[in-house]
Amino acid sequence: MALRNIVERGDEILDKKAKEVKAIDDHICMILDDMLETMRANNGVGIAAPQVGIRRRMFIVEVDGVVYEMINPEILEQSGSQCEYEGCLSVPGLYGRVERPEYVKIAGLNRQGERVVYEADGFLATAFCHENDHLDGQLFIDKAVDIKTAEELYADDEDDAEE
Ligand code: CO
Repeated sequence: MALRNIVERGDEILDKKAKEVKAIDDHICMILDDMLETMRANNGVGIAAPQVGIRRRMFIVEVDGVVYEMINPEILEQSGSQCEYEGCLSVPGLYGRVERPEYVKIAGLNRQGERVVYEADGFLATAFCHENDHLDGQLFIDKAVDIKTAEELYADDEDDAEE
């Protein structure tokens, strides 16, 4: 495995629709391994292939110790809404609230080429939607409200703690 450079906002690859993964071969699996290592090294909870410069439809989410690898994902169902703070490895230092479905049902392929379906709510649902957006060239920051820096967010947390 190897660490890869994370592409940051302003690079046009982040604005483009990623292409379907046609064949899950050793090269694709190596990229997935590198994505996981790179995400963990940067304390991320999700990473999409375009964020490491690969214009293919796949992402990884790791929540509560479970790694979800999704190739050619598709959101099948969604319902409800939530609007929580998000960040992104490609938008360092900025956070904002994004309206997302409270529940999603998402399908895709794992690295064995098997179809997998997950149902998620709350934070995991947000993570799936955030990463899926990357595959369509969308960044959270472009639809976020209440955008804050890490310092501002931290200051708000301290205010809350005092209440
Ligand atoms: Co992101």
